Amino acid sequence: MKPLDKVIINKDTSTKPIWIMRQAGRYLPEFRQIRKENPDFINLCLNTELSSEITLQPIRRFDLDAAIIFSDILMLPYGLGQKVEFLKNFGPKLGKFKLDEIEKIDEVDFTKKVHQVYNAIKKVSTDSHLTNKNTIGFVGAPWTLLVYIINQQSPKKNLKKNFFEDRVLINRILLIIERFLKTHIKNQIDNGANIIQIFDSWAGLLEKKNLPKYIYNPTINLVNYVKSLNVPVICFPREIKNYKEFCDVVKPDAVSIDYNVDPKKILKEIKIPIQGGLDPKILLSDKDTLKKEASKYLDIFKDHPYIFNLGHGVLPETDPNMFDYLVKTVKNY
Ligand code: CP3
Repeated sequence: MKPLDKVIINKDTSTKPIWIMRQAGRYLPEFRQIRKENPDFINLCLNTELSSEITLQPIRRFDLDAAIIFSDILMLPYGLGQKVEFLKNFGPKLGKFKLDEIEKIDEVDFTKKVHQVYNAIKKVSTDSHLTNKNTIGFVGAPWTLLVYIINQQSPKKNLKKNFFEDRVLINRILLIIERFLKTHIKNQIDNGANIIQIFDSWAGLLEKKNLPKYIYNPTINLVNYVKSLNVPVICFPREIKNYKEFCDVVKPDAVSIDYNVDPKKILKEIKIPIQGGLDPKILLSDKDTLKKEASKYLDIFKDHPYIFNLGHGVLPETDPNMFDYLVKTVKNY
């Protein structure tokens, strides 16, 4: 059985596997080198050779238990024909979502447009480095994708004032997102992804009264879909105010927590396997602090099924030696 399955399916508490969000990325000099030669981020994600190479970079360096495929949640709007660019020191910039054109797209068109991602998953999942490790596929949650599609850039702290103005448009977009997320998930699983993580990075922006419509209902549909394909599903509803309610309602196989969550409190509230939590900024401190803070999570979740990870992605300014020290600390615990 693969390391994450032991925790998620068997609820094994004797093993604490580790992988890190954004483990393939800018803190690694070998990534920055490839990135320098490939200024177009989407094209890089669509280059099967390079994206599988980037996915394997952290696996060769560190004793991690899973690879997460090097891609992006915004490959979904890209696959639907919306313009997606990544600007330096700005982040993602999207074009207008043209509903009349997008409604003509079907599953075959979508799959053709992003098929290189699936080829990369096939390549990585069958690589000898991955024999005893998980290959994680992922998608953005419907809500977070809706935010990017309508807002056309990262929302920082707040949504546009008129974000919810066109309810009819929002409802149609949500249905389209849900339909193609299922296609995207199925294609990833068919090509070797054996865990799916759903990233809801902007879950914290919604008021409580809007949670059922924008988060709970669409996410339940996706979680049930992944379950029907017999693959474990991890949800990361970042900064959602009530993780317990989310888990009770959505019922993912495991939940990933952000660094504002009190690990002792959540341990009492949640029965399902837990992942993550450590503040990525701790990796910018010193080894003693890192060991102390990582051990805190390992101590608290000693008797709970737990996958080690951070509370958000590893920061670009992280020293790879500190990353290595973290992995060793978890492995030697
Ligand atoms: O190693 C991994 O975790 C796998 C690859 C991965 C990327 N993006 C690569 C990436 C994953 C899982 C994502 C998910 C993603 N993308 C999320 C959800 C997780 C989160 O961070 O909250 C979101 C919101 C996005 C959208 C996105 N992509 C933003 C806001 C940005 C710019 C911000 C930034 O960090 O620069 C990206 C670009 C991006 N996606 C990079 C990487 C490695 C940086 C690109 C670069 O090299 O310039």
